[in-house]
Amino acid sequence: MNRLNYNAKLVWLCFFTILLMFSNLLIGKNKHPFQIPIYDKFQVDSSASYEVQINQIISLMSLDEKIGQMTQVRHFDDINSNDVTDKFIGSVIHTQGPSPGEGAMGWQGKFKRLQSKALETRLGIPLLFAVDAIHGQNTYNGATIFPHNIGMGATHNPRLIEKSAAITALETQATGFNWTFSPCIAIPYNEKWGRVYEAYSESTDLTSKLVSASIRGYQGDLSAPHTVMATAKHFIGDGSTDYGKEGGEISLTMQEISQRLLPPYKQAVKEGVGSIMVSFSSLSGIPLHAHKELIMDTLKDAMGFDGIVVSDWKGYSRFGKNEIINAGVDLIMAVDGDLNIFQSGLKSAVKSGQVNQSRINDAVRRILRQKFRLGLFQNPFPDPSLVSHIGKSSHRLIAKQAVRESLVLLKHQGNVLPIKKDCKKIVVVGEHADNVGLQSGGWTLAWQGVSENYSRATSILEGIQKVAKGQVVYDPYAQYNHSDADVIIVVVGETPYAEFMGDITNGENKHQLTLSKKHQAYVSSSVNSESKVITILISGRPLIVSQQIEQSDAFIAAWLPGSEGDGVAEVLFGEYNFTGKLPHSWPKSFANFEGKYGPNFWDESNIPLFKYGYGLQY
Ligand code: BGC
Repeated sequence: MNRLNYNAKLVWLCFFTILLMFSNLLIGKNKHPFQIPIYDKFQVDSSASYEVQINQIISLMSLDEKIGQMTQVRHFDDINSNDVTDKFIGSVIHTQGPSPGEGAMGWQGKFKRLQSKALETRLGIPLLFAVDAIHGQNTYNGATIFPHNIGMGATHNPRLIEKSAAITALETQATGFNWTFSPCIAIPYNEKWGRVYEAYSESTDLTSKLVSASIRGYQGDLSAPHTVMATAKHFIGDGSTDYGKEGGEISLTMQEISQRLLPPYKQAVKEGVGSIMVSFSSLSGIPLHAHKELIMDTLKDAMGFDGIVVSDWKGYSRFGKNEIINAGVDLIMAVDGDLNIFQSGLKSAVKSGQVNQSRINDAVRRILRQKFRLGLFQNPFPDPSLVSHIGKSSHRLIAKQAVRESLVLLKHQGNVLPIKKDCKKIVVVGEHADNVGLQSGGWTLAWQGVSENYSRATSILEGIQKVAKGQVVYDPYAQYNHSDADVIIVVVGETPYAEFMGDITNGENKHQLTLSKKHQAYVSSSVNSESKVITILISGRPLIVSQQIEQSDAFIAAWLPGSEGDGVAEVLFGEYNFTGKLPHSWPKSFANFEGKYGPNFWDESNIPLFKYGYGLQY
C-alpha cells in the first residue's frame, strides 16, 4: 500500500468515526431516530419482549399518567396542546368538526405536533389517533369512498373487502391516523334502525366471514406504516334494539345473543382485532357500557380478547361513570366536556378503592400493548410519502369493482338490460343521479353526510354519459314528458343520515320505510307505453318499494355506492353482469319489518318479497 493510499484511508476512517460519534450523540444509545424517555432516561430494555417492556413502563407510571393513557380527546375543542403534556392524554379522535389542517400534509402536521408533545412528556408514550374511516377515509375530501358496508355485504366477496379495507387503511394513515373505528359488525334486525347500512348483513354467517376479511385488510402487518388498528363495534346488540332505536333496549336472551350476535366478535378476536367499541344499547336495563358479564367475563375472559375496549361517545358520563371502568371499559372517549369529569372522577374512585389499581393496570396494559403492536415506539409519526396515494386511480378501480359487485338486480323483464350503448335516447331522472353526496350516505365528509358533490368523485349520470353513445338527457325533477325516450333511468332514494337521525322511531314513523311521495312520483310519471323504465334505488336499507318494482321493467338496489358512481353504468351497459346478492331479506310490506324482530326473525311464515341471497342476472 503506498503512502498516499494509506493517508487517504486514515482520513476516511477518521471521518466515519466522527460521523458515528455525532450520530450517537444525536440519536442516543438506543436505535430510535428520536428520543423516548422510557428508553433514554428510564432504561426500559428495548430489546425485551413488549410484554416485559409494558410491565416496566407500568411500574414507572403515576396514577395521573395511567388515567391519561385511558383518555381520548377530540383534537380541537377539548384540548390545547399543553393538555397532552399536562394531562398525559393517550389518544386523540377526529370526527365531524373543524378540519385538522390544509390538505393531507396539514392533517399530518397537526397530528405530528401533538405527537411531539406526547414524546416530550416524562415517559414519552406516543399517542393513538383515531377516526371513523368506515367506508374509505370518509372524513377527507378527495379520498376513495367505498360503498357502505351493506353494499359490501351484497358483494359476498371477502377478498374484495380485504382489499378495500387495506386501501382505506393506507389513505387513513396518509391523513395522519393509526386507528379506525371500523368495521361495524352489527346484525341489524330492524330496518327502522338508522345504521343498518353500517353493517354488512342480517346474516350472522356472512358477517363473520366479512369481518375477518375486513380486519385482515385494515391491520395487515400492524406495525407497517400503511396499516391501522381496527375496531369491531358496537358490542353488542346495537342493531337489535326494540323498534330499531339507536341506544335502545335489547329484548334478547343471553342464548340468542350468544348464537346470533357473538360469532362475528369471536371471529374478530381470532383475527387479532386491536379494539372493540361498546354499544349505546342496554340489556335488561343495564347499559352495555356497564355490563360486566358481557365485557369482562365473556369478551375478555372467555373469548380471550387482549386488546382495548373503547367506550362510545361520552360513554363515561352517560353510562355510570366508574361502573363502566369496573365492567371492563379501558379507554374513554372523553369528549364534549367529559375530559375533567372523567380524569378527576376516576382518580377519586381509585383513591377511595371504588376502582382497583389492578383494573387500571389492566386497562393501561391493553392500551400500551396496541401501541407496541402498531410499532409506535419505533415509528410514532405518519409517513408523508403516503399522501400521494390518496384517491389514486388504482384505489378507485377497486372501489368501482365494489360498486359493480354490490348492485343487486331485483327485477328484470323484457330484456331491457343490458342497455345498448348506441341506444338513441336515454333520459335520466332524479337528483340522486347527479349528486355524489346523496349517493354516498351518512359518514361522508360530515357525520350525517352531505347533499352536495365532493372532490374527485363520479356521479351515476357521469358514468352513464361516459358509456352511452346516443343522446343522454337529464331531468332531475321529472318535470317533462319523455315518451320519445328508449329508456328512462330513474334514480330515487333516501337522503343521507347517520346515527340517531336515521332512526324511524315507533309511533312517529317519519316515512314508514317507503320512498318519499316526490320520488314515488318520479317513477310513476316515467311510465309510458314507449319507453322502458329502469329504477335504481339509493338507500341504506331495504325499503318498501313493491309498487315501484311493479311499475319498472328493471329494478336495482344500489345501496350507497360512494365515490365511484360510474361503476353503475358499467353494469347497466353490459360491460359486467350483475353478481350482487341481497345481504338482507327484502320486505313486501311494513308487516314484514315487524316480523323480523325477535322470535319471528326466522319464522318461515313471514315471507319477504325477496329472500336473503336473492339477486338476478341478465
Ligand atoms: C358512534 C360511533 C363512532 C363514535 C366516534 C359515536 O357516536 O356511535 O360509531 O365511532 O361516535 O365518532
